[in-house]
Amino acid sequence: MHLTKEEERILNGAHGWAEQTCMKILVRLGELFNAEKLIPITSAHVSGISYKTLGDAPIQYLKALADAEAKVKVKTTLNPQSLDPKYLVNKIPNELQKKQLSILEQFNRMGLTESLTCTPYYLSKLKRGTHIAWAESSAVVYANSIHNAWTNREGGPSALAAAIIGKTPDYGMHRPENRQPSTLVNVETKLKNETEYGALGIYLGKLLRDEIPVIHGLERDKNKLKQLCAAIATTGMTNMFQTSSSTRKITERIDVEEKDLKHTIEELSTGQNKKPDLVFIGCPHCSINEIKTVAQTVKGKKVRSGIEFWVCTSCHISEAAKDAVKQIENTGGHVLTGVCTVVSFTENLGIKNIMTNSAKTAYYAPTLSKAEATLAPVNQCLKTAFKG
Ligand code: F3S
Repeated sequence: MHLTKEEERILNGAHGWAEQTCMKILVRLGELFNAEKLIPITSAHVSGISYKTLGDAPIQYLKALADAEAKVKVKTTLNPQSLDPKYLVNKIPNELQKKQLSILEQFNRMGLTESLTCTPYYLSKLKRGTHIAWAESSAVVYANSIHNAWTNREGGPSALAAAIIGKTPDYGMHRPENRQPSTLVNVETKLKNETEYGALGIYLGKLLRDEIPVIHGLERDKNKLKQLCAAIATTGMTNMFQTSSSTRKITERIDVEEKDLKHTIEELSTGQNKKPDLVFIGCPHCSINEIKTVAQTVKGKKVRSGIEFWVCTSCHISEAAKDAVKQIENTGGHVLTGVCTVVSFTENLGIKNIMTNSAKTAYYAPTLSKAEATLAPVNQCLKTAFKG
């Protein structure tokens, strides 16, 4: 890989251990994928923030970087953590809270923005064609497909290294020749709700591996497409889809029928017909419109006893939708910021059955939350959670 003189100096340790380590990570990655050079990025997004998913060992690495005065060179946002500052903070053992705080402290010292959301694309507008280094697979697919920003699916360490150097290796989704669809997906049924968009993603992710599809038969509804983005990345390595294309390079065709989606939803609904302990909306984190829609539907109602109702979003969106948040909280429900069920310690709260409109959360419930799941559209979730 060709490095500039300055990049060589960083690699040789002229700027200290932290930048040298980050440069080594990027160069190794670039060599593995035959990148010819590093290219500048305009933002980074780092995942692996929750102590539940991160564990102890990486905290030492983050602390060593912060002690060596590593600082990010571009705007860098953070994925959700394991608790929120209002509700779960009172329910999680002190020991776990301390570990979580220590992770956030290291990121703060390095200058990362404490956004704590998997929808960083709601925080500032992404420019078409801009090169970014984002981890969090759902946001990667959204950035590439909806905004036409250019990012590979980074892991937490490579996104952080790119943030500290301000560059990423020029391979994969950063190259125009790798952004062409090769598979045509024909959705032969009209998708009725966001849950079916999620089910489509789970179904396609398994079939596509890392192929880019052009998918016919979708609505341009960003909240529904967000569910498709999250789910397609959950079961496969696809980093982008298109909804129309003039390419002649299509070599495969997948037809999706209503029964494929029905079967996918049934498979994910491992706890169907059981009363949920938790009804959860907000994977990926809710947009302002989604919060307002939930608030309008539940206004004046009360959450049923024996059921928790959570809506998850970023503090940025919660602040922007203050009145709607209040309405939801008046029902006995909770709007939690900076967290989600998958990366929080729900098993410590005795939650064994989760009802959700998110195919991604339903997919991870049995393994990461040790819970059964019921997958259903938001209206059905709200009917189950609320009286009247
Ligand atoms: Fe976001 Fe958590 Fe879902 S990080 S995409 S809400 S699993």
